[in-house]
Amino acid sequence: MEYYQLNQANLIHYLQSLPEVQQKFSSFDHVEVREITDGNMNYAFIVTNKLDANQSVFVKQAPPYIKVLGEEWPLTRQRMVAEMNALHYQSSVCPEMVPKVYYQSEVLSVLIMQNLSNHAILRTELIQERCLPRLAEDLSTFLAETLFYSSDFALPSADKKAMVSKSSNQDMCKITEDFVFTYPFEHHEMNDYNPALSQSVIDSIQKNPNVRAHIAQMKYTFMNKPEALLHGDLHTSSVMVNVQQTFVIDPEFSFAGPMGFDIGALIANLYLNYFSHAHKSSAGSVDYSQWLLQTIDDLWYKFEGKFLSLWLEHEQSDQSAFMGKDLTGDSHQAFRHAFLKQLLSDTLGFAACEMIRRILGVAKVADFMQFEDQKLRATLETQALKMATTMLLNRQSYKNFDFISMSRF
Ligand SMILES: Nc1ncnc2c1ncn2[C@@H]1O[C@H](COP(=O)(O)OP(=O)(O)OP(=O)(O)O)[C@@H](O)[C@H]1O
Ligand SMILES: [Mg+2]
Repeated sequence: MEYYQLNQANLIHYLQSLPEVQQKFSSFDHVEVREITDGNMNYAFIVTNKLDANQSVFVKQAPPYIKVLGEEWPLTRQRMVAEMNALHYQSSVCPEMVPKVYYQSEVLSVLIMQNLSNHAILRTELIQERCLPRLAEDLSTFLAETLFYSSDFALPSADKKAMVSKSSNQDMCKITEDFVFTYPFEHHEMNDYNPALSQSVIDSIQKNPNVRAHIAQMKYTFMNKPEALLHGDLHTSSVMVNVQQTFVIDPEFSFAGPMGFDIGALIANLYLNYFSHAHKSSAGSVDYSQWLLQTIDDLWYKFEGKFLSLWLEHEQSDQSAFMGKDLTGDSHQAFRHAFLKQLLSDTLGFAACEMIRRILGVAKVADFMQFEDQKLRATLETQALKMATTMLLNRQSYKNFDFISMSRF
């Protein structure tokens, strides 16, 4: 079989031919196909039996180009292999937070998986000030489990190296290198500035040699620190939630990289959402802003606790696992402390890069773009840029997320 594009007309015929999908449907006579258009890169469909909504699947296909830009913007279908590998790995360590894969085809670059349409995109929920009591608990679990179990602390040396080579995702990494770490910091034609954002604020980042040097350090870390198998694009539109459950979707940028990149991406997008509420005066918005800060704080705190427990558990089962035997009883502890301190610093640095690129770069976030008033948006953007710059430059000196006194920004 060769690659061909799935569409509304041929999708049912294709699904009917797959035993793994046949099992999900009692009949295809009343099946409905709905194209999902909120993604940019790939085609996505929800297929449902109109007589029984429980019989449904989500279908995602990567074309050899960026869907919304068309064929003149080629992009290798390798991204779908990265997504398949990442989903497979993530569901092996954290199955309750990853959509179940029913079928996959590398030839067609297709994934057929659990339909999550009873869940909503986290970013949308946050914009609407929805209460999500499980968020920090669930996301810290996802981060701790996926990052720990693919690290050198859990994997034998040879398995870790095999994972690193298998997870190479060079075209998607290049997109991140350009659009997260390079273009937003220079005068690039792809950048998209709010016309109301003051030039001096933009210059305070782009023309500040100190900031530029720190951003370059983060880019270098991104490119040279294969610590764990990352999701690679863990922003708040890569999470689907309802009050009971949290799922992480869309790991097409997955590769072996620095742990702080995943944690930082999530935290950055939560902070951007924070700035979109913190200027409002209603009691509901004030409470929601506080809940967001608490959630960020909890996310790191819980992540740290869970990552450490996994590490301790692993050490107890295999004393010489990473460092060899601890002869004084405190060597392991000293290393764990130093490792987590560096991880917090990386997390803050990557969070800063993500916040800045969402404001100066081309890929905007709805949390800010919902405001048509450009002046208001510029005020929020300026606050977020100041905070990101402070976080970036001082990232080595923080111990947790308590430090951030928002009134300073
Ligand atoms: N398992 C699922 N069940 C139901 N809907 C889903 C599922 N996974 C994703 N979606 C919906 O489909 C949309 C597109 O999915 P996804 O983000 O994986 O595609 P994408 O093309 O990679 O998007 P992007 O351009 O944002 O990277 C999501 O925004 C979400 O609304
Ligand atoms: Mg995607």
